[in-house]
Amino acid sequence: MKSLGILLSGRGSNFIAIADSVDAGRIPDARIAAVISNVPDARGIAIARERGLNALVIPSKGRPRAEHEREVAAALKQSDVDLICLAGYMRLLSPWFVKQFPQRILNIHPSLLPAFPGLEAQEQAFAYGVKISGCTVHFVDEELDHGPIIMQKAVPVLDTDDEHTLAARILEQEHLAYTEAINIVLAGNFEIVGRRLKKK
Ligand code: GRF
Repeated sequence: MKSLGILLSGRGSNFIAIADSVDAGRIPDARIAAVISNVPDARGIAIARERGLNALVIPSKGRPRAEHEREVAAALKQSDVDLICLAGYMRLLSPWFVKQFPQRILNIHPSLLPAFPGLEAQEQAFAYGVKISGCTVHFVDEELDHGPIIMQKAVPVLDTDDEHTLAARILEQEHLAYTEAINIVLAGNFEIVGRRLKKK
């Protein structure tokens, strides 16, 4: 049985998609061992509580980054997590934190990286005028939205789109992509050569 840890800061739709996949057996032989929010009133953490999951608020506001991260890392280690999924976690992770969990932290980003890293990626893509955008699940390294790519899904930008309709269609694909990426990583039959994830 593999244990997942989820870090979130907001509405938590990617967390819910992962939890639904675990419950439905689409992520087999896994459980969510901890859901941690740095924002006390995040909708995602309320839902984690409703679902009876181990839901922890570890507030980050007004605290030194190192102190907050030490507490988050300790909670994840206490729950013995095999894999950490960032699901709308609005905090940069320090090199120290990343080193605590080598190749065991995933992030989802709502663009086809390396295009449009950072905040409001869907708006950035829409404003730039790209015809195809999408989402990326990648390993977390020391740089923002940067580590080796596990899986991407493309989403066409329609003439009828605005940034909201585009973001909504990307989000649907995010929910599918995260489950697929978690299964790839938990299965473990891959190697990373340079930046490339290759099936063994
Ligand atoms: C998603 O668009 C995700 O790609 C980005 O933050 C957003 C989180 O949404 N990293 P939700 O909280 O999972 O609904």
